[in-house]
Amino acid sequence: MSTQMPAVLVLGGTSEARLLAERLVREFSGSLRVISSLAGRTAEPVPLAGEVRRGGFGGAAGLERYLRELRPRALIDATHPFAAVISRNAAAAAAAAAVPRLVLARPPWQPTKGDRWIEVADASAAATALGAFGPRVWLTLGGTDVAAFSGLTDRWFLIRRVDPPTAVLPLAQAELILARGPFRLEDERRLIAAHRPDVLVCRASGGAATAPKLEAAREAGLPVIMICRPPPPPGPTVENPGQVVEWLRSRLGP
Ligand SMILES: NC(=O)c1ccc[n+]([C@@H]2O[C@H](COP(=O)([O-])OP(=O)(O)OC[C@H]3O[C@@H](n4cnc5c(N)ncnc54)[C@H](OP(=O)(O)O)[C@@H]3O)[C@@H](O)[C@H]2O)c1
Repeated sequence: MSTQMPAVLVLGGTSEARLLAERLVREFSGSLRVISSLAGRTAEPVPLAGEVRRGGFGGAAGLERYLRELRPRALIDATHPFAAVISRNAAAAAAAAAVPRLVLARPPWQPTKGDRWIEVADASAAATALGAFGPRVWLTLGGTDVAAFSGLTDRWFLIRRVDPPTAVLPLAQAELILARGPFRLEDERRLIAAHRPDVLVCRASGGAATAPKLEAAREAGLPVIMICRPPPPPGPTVENPGQVVEWLRSRLGP
């Protein structure tokens, strides 16, 4: 593929970003290089359509430099709703390098009848809220957020990860399961039946890939401590890959 071809840069690491790369390669084949950027946290990420670069840029200044060199026609921020740092950097760098930016953000989940959600601001508020529940906790949080629960030595935690943690979990009592989503409702029902948690702690990530745990929790009458999203990135925002294609077509022409 010619490196002279104009590019679109997708900041990824989510299933929506993977679907977007697939869609962009299909729709703009021969006219646009589709480059996905991954932080490099997952040892063996699911293969992506188009080109892939891995690793941080070196802050907003590094991303700005990268954008000035690549001169992409657009930057699509399709990162996870809780990946606030890269989104902030993307907003600053795209503005500085005058690259049009669009946010692809999955809609948040909405509670339905039978849900018992307790909404909290962050992981340490979630740890405090656990005081009202039994000792067995299904904790579906990533990396460093787990540290907020380290003082709860009388609680038992069930943790599920894609890759083995690089450091020992800072929890007195924990069981680790290695598995990669998306998880089906049957998987989540089985997990609840096998481990009998008293409460589920999760983030308001939204998206289909991890929603079945909420349905299984509802069925089992399990309370859910839901950590709210950080403020969304500024600027134009869409909810699905099709809307990104429309936005790009409106800027690039047919
Ligand atoms: N946070 C989550 O819960 C979550 C869940 C699922 C997937 N992810 C994905 O995992 C990645 C890392 O998440 P995070 O919460 O650690 O992000 P973060 O806290 O917002 O970002 C931390 C640093 O990681 C690098 N980075 C993040 N996303 C990148 C990307 N797509 N391409 C290149 N560098 C990236 C940047 O390093 P530099 O400053 O050096 O550029 C950034 O400053 C994101 O791409 C996100 O979409 C996150």
